[in-house]
Amino acid sequence: MKILFIGDIVGQPGVDLVVAQVQALRDRYGADAVVANGENMNLSGPHPPTGFGMLPAQIEALLGAGVDVITSGNHAWDGPECAEALMHPRVLRPLNAPDRWYGRGVISIPVAGQTVTVVNVADESAIPEVSPAYAAFAALDLPAGPVIVDYHGDLVGRKFGFAFAVDGKASAVLGTHTHEPTVQAHRLPQGTGFVAEVGMTGPLGGVLGSEPGYFAALARGHDQADLPSAGLADGPVVLGAVLLDLDDAGSAREIRRIGVEHDYAMTI
Ligand SMILES: [Fe+2]
Ligand SMILES: [Fe+2]
Repeated sequence: MKILFIGDIVGQPGVDLVVAQVQALRDRYGADAVVANGENMNLSGPHPPTGFGMLPAQIEALLGAGVDVITSGNHAWDGPECAEALMHPRVLRPLNAPDRWYGRGVISIPVAGQTVTVVNVADESAIPEVSPAYAAFAALDLPAGPVIVDYHGDLVGRKFGFAFAVDGKASAVLGTHTHEPTVQAHRLPQGTGFVAEVGMTGPLGGVLGSEPGYFAALARGHDQADLPSAGLADGPVVLGAVLLDLDDAGSAREIRRIGVEHDYAMTI
């Protein structure tokens, strides 16, 4: 079984890229299922930005184009329509967020005669209120079949630690949240595929998909409270994605990065 995982989709340009490309990617790579992190879809700009989060219309657009499950992270609860977004049965938010927060953190769906389970977790670098991610994962009563984990957090070492802790229990642990992709794709000893950061799907000309001025001002010592929020960046839209090839036992035969061709050069 092949599963395509798409990293944090940023803004409508990121949504548009996925909607335009996902069926072609499914066909080209033989993907049986597609999981995409959508926590930043509602970022617009330049000013005033509308915030982060997910809009129900964007969710429907992705699902209609060929995405099967949408994961999220710390921005899941942002935006004017977050409650409706998180009530969608194909939308996840981190499992280990407080129970009283909207949404669900795990879903099992039928794919190619098997049951694929997707689990979304975060650590406190992304959401200070979460309970420990490993304990939340270990407490799940998982059905037989592939298990894909979206791990939302800042720290590469912590993502590695979680991946080794669930090695052999999860088919893959795929890092999200920092938006800047890490290069290596790993196959851990017991068969879990791991990438520390899949990377965003959004505009490349700023900071993590946002306008750079806000971040430059912070670096220069400006007080965060005095700065307008950053809107959406300009620039070419990139796809951050990995492709998993799983054997019948749900172990990763292969995990590798994929992209779409871009007609641009980043020059200084
Ligand atoms: Fe994000
Ligand atoms: Fe995030």
